Amino acid sequence: MSVLFEPLTIRGMTVPNRVVMSPMLMYMAGPDGTATDLHLVHYGARILGGVGMVMTEVIAVSPDGRISTSDLGLWEDGQIAGIARIAEFAHAHGAKAGVQLAHAGRKSTAQERIVAPSALPYSDFSVPHALEPDEIARIVEDYRAAAERAVRAGFDCLELHVAHGYLLHEFLSPIANTREDDYGGSIANRARIVFEVVAAIRDAIPESVPLFVRLSAEDVVPGGLTEEEATWVASRLVDAGVDLFDISTGNITPGYAGTVYPAYQADHARRLKDALGVATATVGSVSSPELADYLVSSGAVDLVFVGRALLRDPHWTLHAAKQAGIDLPLAIPTYARATGPYERGF
Ligand SMILES: Cc1cc2nc3c(=O)[nH]c(=O)nc-3n(C[C@H](O)[C@H](O)[C@H](O)COP(=O)(O)O)c2cc1C
Repeated sequence: MSVLFEPLTIRGMTVPNRVVMSPMLMYMAGPDGTATDLHLVHYGARILGGVGMVMTEVIAVSPDGRISTSDLGLWEDGQIAGIARIAEFAHAHGAKAGVQLAHAGRKSTAQERIVAPSALPYSDFSVPHALEPDEIARIVEDYRAAAERAVRAGFDCLELHVAHGYLLHEFLSPIANTREDDYGGSIANRARIVFEVVAAIRDAIPESVPLFVRLSAEDVVPGGLTEEEATWVASRLVDAGVDLFDISTGNITPGYAGTVYPAYQADHARRLKDALGVATATVGSVSSPELADYLVSSGAVDLVFVGRALLRDPHWTLHAAKQAGIDLPLAIPTYARATGPYERGF
């Protein structure tokens, strides 16, 4: 029984199917962080290709929070109109749209001065400035303001990036956080900024808007964040109003120390769902429609985030549906003339 093409309701949002385009930074924005026609066509192609939701690539909450100078931003009102077109296009074609908010922390290449929980460099990057408490408070406010702009832009859902070695994950991980104040040491302290950001965002967005967290379930390197700690953080975040955990792992240090195989991160998501009864999504090397369907149909996860397979084939979702014998409504009905019997005469 295929569940991949069944809708899912979270708060006020109903996603028409369980396939989400995973956030993927395309390095296509100008230095002003605004979205271009290329962004609209890039996301629009996957929307026409049948995904239930597109989750944007990382969108920086401040200029110094960009991974690169070609990142999108939501640190000022002038950046709203560009990305609003993506949400509008999704809605016009029956899909949903989410924004992934992030601060790159010590992995920013956008400027000379980079910031992090502690003055510990990532690989051969420059030594970051260890954030002062008042600077942390400023960043929390940047998240609040960016979240409010995302809602004004018409997005249905927000995702907070707490993985892949960017700022919020850096705070969680003892590898990047050796602070001795209220933001370091115990997992409760290391997670403090994440709790503050989630509280600020929930306060800034309507009750009906779901909040997802892309959470690193573990660092996969000795001395890093453990699954037990991540599960505790998630349990607190559920109480704070997080609706779904999009589970990833690794990248607090360069390279990936784990083993990669189809759906290699799904067990983490399933264990979190079992432990907390919370909605989860998996991501990572899910490129076969049968596997994607199995992951949701077996109850392991609620959504499947598909990354590179959707870069290779914008119509991945339509192809998956066809394989499952399901006719998704075509955004351009005339396309059906390419799949039925060949009609000559024009
Ligand atoms: C080009 C590219 C850009 C990415 N950018 C982001 C990003 O902006 N935010 C994020 O959380 N993950 C990012 N990722 C990771 C993907 O969202 C996804 O987790 C990863 O590629 C594994 O899924 P896949 O095997 O389906 O591609 C990126 C991956 C790729 C290939």
